[in-house]
Amino acid sequence: MLYDIAFAAKVISGYVRRAGLVDVLGAYGKVNVQGEEQQKLDVIANETMKQAFYHTGRVCVMASEEDEDPVPVPVSNKQAKYVLIFDPLDGSSNIDVNVSIGTVFSVHTRVTESGSGTLEDCLQPGRDQVAAGYVIYGSSTVLAYTAGHGVHLFTLDPTIGEFRLADHDIKTPAVGKYYSINESYYQRWSNGYRRVVDTFKGVEDLEQRKNARYIGSLVADFHRNLLAGGVFMYPADSKSPSGKLRLLYEAAPLGFIAEQAGGAASDGRTAIMDIEPKELHQRTPLLIGSKDDVAFVERTIAEVDAAATT
Ligand code: AHG
Ligand code: MN
Ligand code: MN
Repeated sequence: MLYDIAFAAKVISGYVRRAGLVDVLGAYGKVNVQGEEQQKLDVIANETMKQAFYHTGRVCVMASEEDEDPVPVPVSNKQAKYVLIFDPLDGSSNIDVNVSIGTVFSVHTRVTESGSGTLEDCLQPGRDQVAAGYVIYGSSTVLAYTAGHGVHLFTLDPTIGEFRLADHDIKTPAVGKYYSINESYYQRWSNGYRRVVDTFKGVEDLEQRKNARYIGSLVADFHRNLLAGGVFMYPADSKSPSGKLRLLYEAAPLGFIAEQAGGAASDGRTAIMDIEPKELHQRTPLLIGSKDDVAFVERTIAEVDAAATT
């Protein structure tokens, strides 16, 4: 499975690295199930991921951010044991301006007996993932994965066209240097999140100040915080009651990585990995990164927002 992910990542990286020279920039001309305008690279990355797995005999069903329904695989894979769920291109708004983007993947084992996989095989909690990770197309192309035994990083070596181990057993600092959130939504947040961000800006106590870093590509913000320490927040707000990010192919796989690196991920109250999915594209508020920072945010929003409801 991981070699197949690495193969797809090399193909996508090849397109990303030649953007502007080959026709991969700009809008594709269709709106996807998320109601977002698909970019050409969204479609190219989506087709690349599906093609890389159609005939391997390893997956019984796939699901993608870009496809409304589960993606069936040729019936020849009817004994296949794995389920692959992915966001083929994360950070689409950054493609045309040459800012880091990524691919996120989540692997489960099937729950149905045999034959083509079904929606039931896709709707499994993050706690049951057998592997998960992401590729970041940044200053280098890095594949990060976990199979439940630590987080390991591989860098694509362009001189030989192979991913090579760059670091293993990554542990994320308990307290981070950074906080990441789209502050233009400040007016829509609960008082709890306003208090959190005011604290990180040093309004209350300069000692608790953190640097603000927000790229607009979840994978890039997450990867920086994983290595340097930090907390990423995409809260529910008055306009998006479940937040924007998707549980199955953004929050759950990154939640697995975060926990394996000694960090944490929740929706503000419940661990992301414990949320039972009900729909393929369901959204969830996301709070993820350094363990103590995530705990601080959870405590603060519980205190402030609970007070607001009494
Ligand atoms: P995608 O491109 O797969 O739709 O994901 C974009 C997501 C995520 O990468 C990022 O953190 C978030 O959208 C940014 O949203 P805002 O522009 O609302 O901050
Ligand atoms: Mn995404
Ligand atoms: Mn995407």
